[in-house]
Amino acid sequence: MRKLAAGNWKMNGTAAALSEVAALCTAHPAPACDMLLCPPATLVAQMAAAAKGTALQVGGQDCHAKASGAHTGDISALMLQDAGATAVIVGHSERRTDHAETDAQVLAKAEAAQAAGLVAIVCIGETEAERDAGRTLDVIGTQLAGSVPAASTAATLVVAYEPVWAIGTGRTPTIAEIADVHAFLRARLTAKIGAEAAGVRLLYGGSVKPSNAAEIFAVPHVDGALVGGASLKAADFGGIVAALSAA
Ligand code: 13P
Repeated sequence: MRKLAAGNWKMNGTAAALSEVAALCTAHPAPACDMLLCPPATLVAQMAAAAKGTALQVGGQDCHAKASGAHTGDISALMLQDAGATAVIVGHSERRTDHAETDAQVLAKAEAAQAAGLVAIVCIGETEAERDAGRTLDVIGTQLAGSVPAASTAATLVVAYEPVWAIGTGRTPTIAEIADVHAFLRARLTAKIGAEAAGVRLLYGGSVKPSNAAEIFAVPHVDGALVGGASLKAADFGGIVAALSAA
């Protein structure tokens, strides 16, 4: 399977930040992994134009479950696709927290994304309290069951495991903990969608940096990363792309 280095810019970046795209694509014209950046919606079309003819793909950070309609401020999967996106993140923990998104809503968004021809990057992950209570596998198993479309294929689904307590904190689970979760996810996904699960990229996310990327990418069933802070600068994200290309 071709691995995936995905960056989530979150609510960061104006047009000036597109210089990072040029730097990234120049430094990594033909990486041995897929390379995706998900900028704010305002930059999707511009970034897609800047990335045309390069190895970089562009994605959204969220979409509405409906294709169109009276939903002020929202953006549909079709609109993202029209703007040049090939993927969209759904169910990020920041949306589950800030916008009280439920598994059912995330599922509907993922289905809308796939129907529009986008890869759905479904995010799951436990809070620190849930991990401390020994409930990690319970929580992510429930999220996976509730937010992954049953008709998903290796070409239309990516799952990102992002422990909430590891996001933006500089803390990460141990290598053994990541290995446990990813093996569990592969098994649960196989039970849900069958043989296609073998080809679904399972990303780890949460404080991935160039300095810890190689050891994380060596973990079985880690097929790439979803990177926040370290995706904002071409040099940092490029270091992660290089580590994944070498893995
Ligand atoms: P950081 O890489 O900044 O920890 O963010 C991870 C994340 O939430 C990506 O979606």
